[in-house]
Amino acid sequence: MPQRIEAPAHPTSGGMKVILVAGARPNFMKVAPVLFALRRAGHAPVLVHTGQHYDARMSDAFFADLELPEPDHHLGVGSGSHAVQTARIMEAFEPVVLAERPDWVVVFGDVNSTLACALVAAKLQPETGCRVAHVEAGLRSGDWRMPEEVNRVVTDRVSDLLLTPSRDAHPNLRAEGVPDGRVAFVGNTMIDTLLARLPRARERAFAAELGLERGRYAVSTLHRPSNVDDPAAFRGVLEALGTVAREMPVVLPLHPRARRQAEAFGLDALLAPLRVLEPVGYLEMLSLTEGAAVVLTDSGGVQEETTALGVPCVTLREQTERPVTVTEGTNRLAPWPLTAEGVVAAFRDALARGQEAAQPRPDGWDGRAGERVAAALAAALNGGLDGETQNAR
Ligand code: UD1
Ligand code: UDP
Repeated sequence: MPQRIEAPAHPTSGGMKVILVAGARPNFMKVAPVLFALRRAGHAPVLVHTGQHYDARMSDAFFADLELPEPDHHLGVGSGSHAVQTARIMEAFEPVVLAERPDWVVVFGDVNSTLACALVAAKLQPETGCRVAHVEAGLRSGDWRMPEEVNRVVTDRVSDLLLTPSRDAHPNLRAEGVPDGRVAFVGNTMIDTLLARLPRARERAFAAELGLERGRYAVSTLHRPSNVDDPAAFRGVLEALGTVAREMPVVLPLHPRARRQAEAFGLDALLAPLRVLEPVGYLEMLSLTEGAAVVLTDSGGVQEETTALGVPCVTLREQTERPVTVTEGTNRLAPWPLTAEGVVAAFRDALARGQEAAQPRPDGWDGRAGERVAAALAAALNGGLDGETQNAR
């Protein structure tokens, strides 16, 4: 039996009740501007934290840095295999939807929490009338070995409203037969957060605190299974970063998955030449990124943030679902398969081209995406998308 969950009374007259789902680190930056925009427009956001990420440094730190309210519901699911984690989230989320009876369930990004909650809401639609919206719809890597690709495709398939962060998402959705009427271009909500928090991040001056000189250090983040779950691949990436570290300090805030695997594979010696940190808070990360000469990463969000900041980025993956960061931004893919020589060549190229980096940000990466999400939800509920938000060909 699902547990009984008390829902607050519908707090606004005329406003929408909108469940916003966050679970993993990158979700918090995407949710915050939507939550604030909904509040400003007189709607009632209900924040649900699935608990997919739970360490203070992977979760609480972001609530503080982003000034997010305490979640209305914390599902506390924790880690597990894909099936276990997804199932636990679904089981815990179902009674929340039944109790809250929202107009919308909005899911963000491509993590297991995104898929699990979209599935629950889609199946409760006949009973509760709630609709499902996906923020960050339409991104595709074409790589089905990535759990995120499965999450993206299935989430988009069950969503009523697909809200895209960049224009390159639209042909992907058309190719899958998604009707244009279900798609709206809103831009990148993660960049809303970046633009809003940049002054604070600059004040934070975290790089200086670490004794790093602006423009004279590199930053790296690693957590993709393709890089850290295979001992040979992980070894190769760390050797490459070690080679870069001969040219300038490499700061590596280490994701818990990567730390666990480095210990399991006995790779401690390869971490020694790097400035390894615990995962850092959002303002600290933004401060580090903004002052970096080059960023080397397998993160999706960091590819976008470096483009928004004009900082050169080398992506340590075979492909990216965010091609706009290459075509209109500062990102490039390291030659694949990754080798120390290939990564160092890409690093040097990025460094040399750093000065060319400044260019206009991609369309919709303007700090107003959260507002457009709120407007698109309201328009779709009232019977259609408005002309401005409607997918422009
Ligand atoms: C997840 C997302 C990935 C996203 C990343 C952002 C999925 C399938 N993957 O990957 O798309 O890019 O988050 O960071 O949803 N752990 C802790 N403390 C925590 C969280 C995790 O120690 O607070 C450790 C646990 O050992 C856990 C492992 O990290 O098993 C992996 O966590 P999980 O959420 O399953 O996947 P991520 O690799 O974090
Ligand atoms: N980030 C952070 N501290 C860190 C590493 C990353 O605040 O130690 C931020 C980063 O700036 C971006 C987000 O976390 O806003 C990206 O999350 P992550 O790389 O975990 O996931 P992905 O974007 O790859 O799904």
